[in-house]
Amino acid sequence: MNEDKNLLERDNLVIAKSTKVRYSPMVIHSGSGSTLMDNEGRTYIDFGGNWALANLGYDNRSVKVAIASQLDKTSYAGIVSSINEPALQLAEKLVQLMPGNFEKKAWFGLSGSDAAEAAQRMVLAATGKSRILSFIGGMHGTNDAGMGLSGLPGEGGFRYGPHVIKAPFPDPYRSPFPESEGYLAERCTSFIEDYLFKTICSPGEVAAVFVETIQSDSGDVVPPDNFIPMLRKLCDKHGILLVVDDIKIGLGRTGRMFSYEHHNVEADLVLLGKSLGGGLPLSAVVGRAEVLDSGFAGFTMSGNAACCIAGFATLNEIEKLNLVEYSTIVGQYLRNKLESSLSNYGIVGDIRGLGLIQGIDLVKDKTTREPNRDAASKIVYRCWELGLILYYVGNGGNVLEITPPLVLTTEEADKGVAILEQAFDDYINDEIDEAKVAEFPGWFV
Ligand SMILES: Cc1ncc(COP(=O)(O)O)c(C=O)c1O
Repeated sequence: MNEDKNLLERDNLVIAKSTKVRYSPMVIHSGSGSTLMDNEGRTYIDFGGNWALANLGYDNRSVKVAIASQLDKTSYAGIVSSINEPALQLAEKLVQLMPGNFEKKAWFGLSGSDAAEAAQRMVLAATGKSRILSFIGGMHGTNDAGMGLSGLPGEGGFRYGPHVIKAPFPDPYRSPFPESEGYLAERCTSFIEDYLFKTICSPGEVAAVFVETIQSDSGDVVPPDNFIPMLRKLCDKHGILLVVDDIKIGLGRTGRMFSYEHHNVEADLVLLGKSLGGGLPLSAVVGRAEVLDSGFAGFTMSGNAACCIAGFATLNEIEKLNLVEYSTIVGQYLRNKLESSLSNYGIVGDIRGLGLIQGIDLVKDKTTREPNRDAASKIVYRCWELGLILYYVGNGGNVLEITPPLVLTTEEADKGVAILEQAFDDYINDEIDEAKVAEFPGWFV
């Protein structure tokens, strides 16, 4: 029996299914740059970045050294009932980086979901209001609060968060208001103002709007450029806080340190996580001091020094390696390559994204745009067989998502797209083993 098969059997025996969102039997043994290696020494170009986690790639030396230096002192320093310097350094750095000329603080947690939950608790406590507004297709976490804020089929639907109002998100490709082409952002914001605020609740009850500037898990949906500025205006008009969830696409991925910098607006709070910890569990809410000083939202492990020093080193590396600017350049290179290599396939409906988050929307028919999950699941599995890791997302489970480490080279981009092309051909020629793919159903089932 080969070693990875043995690991797969052990995994099936002892790891809870409830934690699994599997697209292939990938085993991670080690990694370097944007390449992963399994236990048998096979290498894979990583177009998924472990769900946009590994922004610095898999072996950043400065982050490793920083973590080791803290572990040498102690791994047990938190912030709930004591002070530690790495947490202060990281908070000071985040406060300095976040745009906006107002008094700011930072809150620390261990996962994106807990940051979303804490932010919700703090905005409700700070404002004394009772409602939150978020968007259909949004993803803010997998704890009860995160699921309540989210609007995805795989997120337990609308079971959680009865106080959260969900508004349509301006998806230009699968529009909630097809008759409003050309003024979709206006239509979606006026739906909130002229309909939701006159039927479900008054704007005065709403503490905050939670939004992703690109909805990734619902299919890498890029709204029209004027949407985020219009949302900011709406919030200002009604005294509502704007909370940007940058957990997945913040810290350089879109070509800006914070994704909303593309829109020249300020957020009141920004949520960070995933890549922030350089591979260790770390999340943050950064923003208005008066909001973050409200209520209580802490864990025993909040702000632990090992994770915070990793976060501080990660931010320093992003700056030192110019990864924000590099994401724009290599992202555009990758996008051009994807378009020239894939857009002629009959199953490619749309290719969209910004910087190093790109989505390939697979359809059964370019005219009807009916989502093609069959193609997505088979192509992702086949890519793994051929040495490329990526996942599929989307309300229809039909969007190939590309969120590689920000250190991806153009050579790796070329190789990855060549593998994608091969997998597309194998799909078209019906050469992908359906039974094997069925063992890895991904998400949204
Ligand atoms: C935009 C966004 N917010 C929040 C989360 C939740 O983060 P975590 O899985 O670290 O709890 C995710 C995770 O995919 C996400 O993409």
